[in-house]
Amino acid sequence: MYNERYRPQFHFSPKENWMNDPNGLVYFKGEYHLFYQYHPDGTKWGPMHWGHAVSKDLIHWDHLPIALFPDELGTIFSGCAVVDYGNTSGLKDGDEDVMVAIFTQHEEGNQKQSIAYSHDRGRTWTKYHNNPVIANPGLKDIRDPKVFWHEDANKWIMSLACGNHIRFYGSSNLLEWEHMSSFGEGYGAHGGVWECPDLIEVPVKGSEEKKWVLIVSINPGAPNGGSGMQYFVGEFNGKSFLPDESPETTHWADYGRDFYAAVSWLDTPTQEQIWIGWMSNWQYANEVPTHPWRSAMSIPRVVTLMKTENGYNLVQTPVKEIEQLRTRKTIEEHDVITHKEKPLKLSGVGPLLEMDIEVKEAQADTWGIHVRHGESQTTIAFHLKKGQWSIDRTQSGEVDFSTEFPSKDIAPFEKEVNKVQFYLDTSSLEVFLNDGESVITELIFPSQEDVEMELFARNGEVAFDRVKVTNLKGIWEK
Ligand code: FRU
Repeated sequence: MYNERYRPQFHFSPKENWMNDPNGLVYFKGEYHLFYQYHPDGTKWGPMHWGHAVSKDLIHWDHLPIALFPDELGTIFSGCAVVDYGNTSGLKDGDEDVMVAIFTQHEEGNQKQSIAYSHDRGRTWTKYHNNPVIANPGLKDIRDPKVFWHEDANKWIMSLACGNHIRFYGSSNLLEWEHMSSFGEGYGAHGGVWECPDLIEVPVKGSEEKKWVLIVSINPGAPNGGSGMQYFVGEFNGKSFLPDESPETTHWADYGRDFYAAVSWLDTPTQEQIWIGWMSNWQYANEVPTHPWRSAMSIPRVVTLMKTENGYNLVQTPVKEIEQLRTRKTIEEHDVITHKEKPLKLSGVGPLLEMDIEVKEAQADTWGIHVRHGESQTTIAFHLKKGQWSIDRTQSGEVDFSTEFPSKDIAPFEKEVNKVQFYLDTSSLEVFLNDGESVITELIFPSQEDVEMELFARNGEVAFDRVKVTNLKGIWEK
C-alpha cells in the first residue's frame, strides 16, 4: 500500500478509488479536516460521496470513514463545513460545538443546497430533516456553496456558483438563506461553467492592507486548456462583491493544467489563508494511469496578495510545515555559471525533492531545468525576452493515455526571474516562481526511476548564486 507506481509520496491521495474536489475544509480542535468528492465504488467519477481525512500539520493525513452518502435528494457534490461556535443553527446538542456541512445535492437537472451536522468532530453526520435549505430556483447549474461568518455583517455569507455568475446569500442561522447579490456576468473568463467559488479576505504583503478576493474555478476555459482557476480582487461590503478592476481583466491563480477547485480552510490557527487544490483536469482526470486510486491533492499553500503596478496579484507558497519532510541529503552549489556548452548536472538525487534556485544574473535568451533529465524529462524553461515561462511535459513519460495530456503550458511573469522553487513527487511537479508570484502545477508520469537534474542555458550565460536540491521523505513512512 502506498508504494504503487506513481503513488504520491507527500501529497494526499485516497487509498483507493476516485477523488476530485477538496470539500469541507475547516480547522477544529487541533485537526485540519479534508473532505473530498469521492466515488467509493470505482476509479472513475460516479455517484458522489464525501470522503474524509484529518491532519494535525497539513502534511500527514489519517483516513477516516466516508462522511456523507447520497440520499433521496441526490448525490453529494462539493461544499464546505463550518463550526457553529455561536450555535446560531440551534443544532448543538451536548458540550461539543456543532460542525455543519453545507453542500450541493445533485439530481440531473435539479441541484439544491443541503446541510448536515456532526456532534463528534466530523466523525458521524446527520442530515438536516428540512433539506434542502436552498431549493433550486430554476437554474441548471447552482452548486458548490462556500460559507463563512462575516463579523461586521453579523451573519453567515455563502458564495454559490451559478453557471456564469456567483450568487451571494446571507443567513443568521445556516438554515434560512436570502439571496443578496450576484457577480460575474460580463466579468473575467467565461469559456466554461463557473464552479467552486470562495470569498476570502487576503493580506497584502508588506502592508497592513487586506483585500477581498473572489476565487472562481472554471471548466473548461483555462489559459492552457480545460480546468483552471480565476480570481477577482475587490471589496465585499457584507452584501455584494465590488471588483477593483475592469470587466475584461482576468487573473489566473495557477497556469498549470492540474490545479483546480481549490478552496481555503476556515478558522486556521494562524489566521492565514491556506488552500489546497485538486491536482487534475477534467480533460483527462478519468484516464490518468494510476491504480487502485485516481487523483491527489496539491501541497497546501498559503495565499497572500502582492501589490503591482497594475493592481494586485495572488501569491502562493507551500505551507512551512512541508519543511519537516526535508532530509539531510542535499546537494548544493554556489556561484555557478551555465551556458550552452556547459549545462550543470546534479545527479544522485532522490525521486522526491525540493529544488531551490537563486539567480544572480541572466543574459541567456532562455534557461531552464530538465527535471528527471533523460528519457522521461519534463522541461521548465524561462523565456526571458518574452516575459514568459513554460513547462513542457510532452516527453515526461507516460503521456498517451489522453490526447489532451502531452502539453507545453505557458505563463507570464511580472519582471524578472530571481528565484525558482519546485517540489517533485512521483507524479507531480509544482513550481513557484519568485516566491510564489506565478505558479505552475502539472501531473507527470515519468518512466525512469533515477533522477538527474540538468540546468541549461541557450544564447548566453546564466549565473546562479545558489542551486540546491533537498531530498524529501514521504509522508506515509512513519
Ligand atoms: C468541480 C465539480 C463541482 C461539483 C463536483 C462534482 O470539479 O464539477 O462543481 O460539485 O465537481 O463532483
